[in-house]
Amino acid sequence: MRIFVCGGAGFIGSNFIRYILGKHKNVQILNYDALTYSGNLNNLKDIEKDKRHRFIKGNIADKETVDLVFQKFKPDYVINFAAETHVDRSIHIGAKEFIDTNITGVFNILEAVKARSGVKKYVQVSTDEVYGSLPLNSKNTFKEDTAFAPNVPYAATKAGGDMFCRAYYNTFKTPVIVTHCSNNYGPYQYPEKLIPFFILRMLENKKLPLYGDGKNVRDWIYVLDHCEALRLCLFKGKPGEVYNIGADNEMSNLEIASLILNHFNRDKSWMEFVTDRPGHDRRYAIDSRKIRKELGWKPKHQFKKVFTETIHWYLKNEDWINNVREKTGVFNPHIDLWEGHKMKK
Ligand SMILES: NC(=O)c1ccc[n+]([C@@H]2O[C@H](COP(=O)([O-])OP(=O)(O)OC[C@H]3O[C@@H](n4cnc5c(N)ncnc54)[C@H](O)[C@@H]3O)[C@@H](O)[C@H]2O)c1
Repeated sequence: MRIFVCGGAGFIGSNFIRYILGKHKNVQILNYDALTYSGNLNNLKDIEKDKRHRFIKGNIADKETVDLVFQKFKPDYVINFAAETHVDRSIHIGAKEFIDTNITGVFNILEAVKARSGVKKYVQVSTDEVYGSLPLNSKNTFKEDTAFAPNVPYAATKAGGDMFCRAYYNTFKTPVIVTHCSNNYGPYQYPEKLIPFFILRMLENKKLPLYGDGKNVRDWIYVLDHCEALRLCLFKGKPGEVYNIGADNEMSNLEIASLILNHFNRDKSWMEFVTDRPGHDRRYAIDSRKIRKELGWKPKHQFKKVFTETIHWYLKNEDWINNVREKTGVFNPHIDLWEGHKMKK
């Protein structure tokens, strides 16, 4: 079984590779990743001697190389995690790279899958952010047929990639599946994202900045529950289908911040409210009944337990954190943005 994994050196991709190697004996994985600021081979250090996994540095926006690697590796399955993923960057730095990777890159993978009849399935890993925002006081959730309404450049580019997948299935019967998952947490997440960002702020004795009133809600899922859902989509999912993945675990940013403060024995004075992010979606909530019913998936990890384990993982892996700091030079450009927001207030 030959799996071509794009973006396997990032947070979810590296967890997925480790998970698949643990679950399947006879598997060959080719990990194709451009190693941008969030891609890190240290995320795969513990499996670097496993001969079933090979790494090639490459960009999905580079069509020639994608085609060449496809021809040589001849994958049975393809899964794409490669993306520009940070909303703040898409707003404050610009969306050009988001378009190149999240749209053109997906187009290149679709073309390569279309040209090679041997590919059984291609799973395009996407986000609930394509559906836009729900009000706090509604019971509505995102279903697979909810209309796309992206509010920030990141989400718009992810929606663009998803639309190409839809079009390629309908036009060419390219065997593609799109998944929309809610916010992930767990080990190896680049610390610009909320949970590792807050943990590291605590380690640096700095306050936790919360956008706006802090009441924005996300539907948090443990990364390995997401990986199992993706494994099922890859091997059991039906081409042309869309699957929403969520753990029914809605929590506000304020609640997440409070849990982290409690863990570090700090009081609420360690929170600070900063000017809200433009286009900041209020609430995401996923209806995941379809994947539960059709593929027999359900989240197995209990939030309190794995949330605490996640905090411990960052506390125990100082080398990993230091390496990320060294590799990217500026540890987190958004700290400066947040401080900037604060000054404007
Ligand atoms: N993190 C979440 O909470 C979440 C939730 C839902 C969906 N997703 C989706 O899951 C996927 C993975 O997210 P993540 O959090 O692991 O992201 P990440 O930023 O940690 O990793 C992205 C990886 O893609 C690589 N990459 C970026 N551009 C590339 C390119 N042009 N060619 C090849 N490789 C490239 C990076 O080097 C990195 O290894 C993304 O598509 C994201 O939209 C993430």
